[in-house]
Amino acid sequence: MKVLVTGGAGFIGSHVVDKLLDAGHDPRILDLIPSPYHSDVETVLGDLGDREIVQRALEGVDAVLHLAAVADVDQVAKNPTLTDQVNTRGTQVLLEAAREAGVKRFVYASTIWVYGDAASPEALDEDTPLGLPKHFYTATKIAGEMYTSSYGELYDLEWTILRFGIPYGPRARPTAVVPAFTAKALAGQPLMIAGDGTQSRRFVYVEDLAEGVVASLVPEAANRVYNLVGRENTSVRAIARAVRDVVGDVPIEHIEGRAGDLRGGNISGERAATELGWEPRTAFADGVRRYVEWVTEEASRPSAATASSTDGTAAAVLRQESSEL
Ligand SMILES: NC(=O)c1ccc[n+]([C@@H]2O[C@H](COP(=O)([O-])OP(=O)(O)OC[C@H]3O[C@@H](n4cnc5c(N)ncnc54)[C@H](O)[C@@H]3O)[C@@H](O)[C@H]2O)c1
Repeated sequence: MKVLVTGGAGFIGSHVVDKLLDAGHDPRILDLIPSPYHSDVETVLGDLGDREIVQRALEGVDAVLHLAAVADVDQVAKNPTLTDQVNTRGTQVLLEAAREAGVKRFVYASTIWVYGDAASPEALDEDTPLGLPKHFYTATKIAGEMYTSSYGELYDLEWTILRFGIPYGPRARPTAVVPAFTAKALAGQPLMIAGDGTQSRRFVYVEDLAEGVVASLVPEAANRVYNLVGRENTSVRAIARAVRDVVGDVPIEHIEGRAGDLRGGNISGERAATELGWEPRTAFADGVRRYVEWVTEEASRPSAATASSTDGTAAAVLRQESSEL
């Protein structure tokens, strides 16, 4: 299948391109920047909001995996106008061009943050009604979901919406919590946790996630929504311990901060398991190990961006709350 991956040069998108190649598909990337990982994959460089670029990128394409977005909430907060242009308007431009081009399936990358931050004891599944978003980023992602499904209703464009858990693993942004702790630990510095560290999130190892994205191309996934999440929530304390176990014995220190009351929702991955046959395979400790190996390899390359530039202070760890939406 010829598959266009928007945002294919990014963290998750680059892994999706790997998994498409593994599955025998024929990927094409649409991104603002050339992929550091796939110089050998056909790439259209340009802006999602540019109709002509998008039309060119869609030529001969069977399915679109739409991952391009302003996905770093620090960037979102700095530039909501750009975020609106890319995440909302850009999605509409792509949908319209996909409809005109007769694309068979449009897959939209969303986030479990659409469920909000309510710590519900009940499992949140894809039929859980969505409340009003608190963050502008989430607002644009919900808008993208709505645009996608309503294009399906209006124009019979087959769609799939995927709500990703919090991805971690090789190629991750250095400001996220696993990279921040890893950078600190590699520098032999203490891992600082704000509060008691029981606040937790539903992580998913990025290569597993990318397999789930490719799995969603099956006919059964037409006009369906899926959560693609790890098996269980992981606390900040557990992350620090996992990093310390891999990197070496650095102290874990608690500083004053928010109480550990944010548990994140209990998000169900059952539908993806039943209908797509997709389940995350990588245990958190193994995923952290693979991330640390990747960082170490990258650090040995002269030009590579490494996590060593990361500000892994407690403030950064607090900020991860927002930078991993
Ligand atoms: N990283 C997370 O924590 C997370 C969690 C849930 C969902 N998501 C969603 O997954 C998708 C991918 O996220 P990511 O973490 O890989 O982000 P990323 O920033 O690593 O990748 C996004 C890619 O989109 C490209 N892009 C941005 N604006 C563009 C434009 N106008 N035209 C063309 N390309 C453009 C960027 O150059 C980048 O390569 C996003 O839709 C995001 O909302 C991310």
